[in-house]
Amino acid sequence: MKIIITDSYAASCREAANLLLSVVKSNPHACLGLATGGTAQGVYPHLVEAYKQQLVSFKEVRTVNLDEYIGLKPDHPQSYRHYMDTYFFDHVDINPLNTYIPSGSQLVQPEITNFSRILEIWPRDVQLLGVGVNGHIGFNEPGEVLQAGVHVATLDEATIKANARFFASEAEVPKTAITMGVGNILQAGKIVLLATGSQKAAVLQKLLTSDEVTTQVPCTLLKLHRDVTVILDRELARQV
Ligand code: GLP
Repeated sequence: MKIIITDSYAASCREAANLLLSVVKSNPHACLGLATGGTAQGVYPHLVEAYKQQLVSFKEVRTVNLDEYIGLKPDHPQSYRHYMDTYFFDHVDINPLNTYIPSGSQLVQPEITNFSRILEIWPRDVQLLGVGVNGHIGFNEPGEVLQAGVHVATLDEATIKANARFFASEAEVPKTAITMGVGNILQAGKIVLLATGSQKAAVLQKLLTSDEVTTQVPCTLLKLHRDVTVILDRELARQV
């Protein structure tokens, strides 16, 4: 596992964006696995800026997102489709048909089939990840068992509390989500995990300072992948 410690969250975002950009520059047809959440938000302006400066084109790029809340329509301000359009897709030359985000407002079973099929036919060159306060990746929540493939996850109390900041109240946070499984995440060619904030220190410690792999801290399964880069700022690194 490669660990990059930066001076600040802003520098971490630049670093993560540069990794994604180098994948696209070496392969204009690349498929990017993308992530949402507060941490990933700072990455997308760098991709948009690189496009505006004509350093890169997303014309032939495909993207697949990790997850989506069940019950939110694509135009809901907290849906991950809305997030991706707002922070990235609307500002670059990507073909909307080449961007896949699971739908949280379709019938669930057919959407699981659809998502699984997309993951098969669009292999990801790189997967960007954040991490939950409980160590979740995508919406793979801690538990006795984890799912390898696409599934519907019931959100953990800790996740609902952490994500309540994006909604008017905790009660409005959806209780379930459709997500890639850990097996799907591990199928990406490269993985880039970005973390910031002292609330992530405990799970980063489990990821970076021990050899243990446990379903109780899903991000520890990343130790099974051969090309993982973890990017964190000095402030967080100090607490790990
Ligand atoms: C969300 C998403 C994850 C994200 C994580 C961290 O619930 N499902 O993909 O990485 O939680 O979010 P944040 O960066 O806002 O802490």
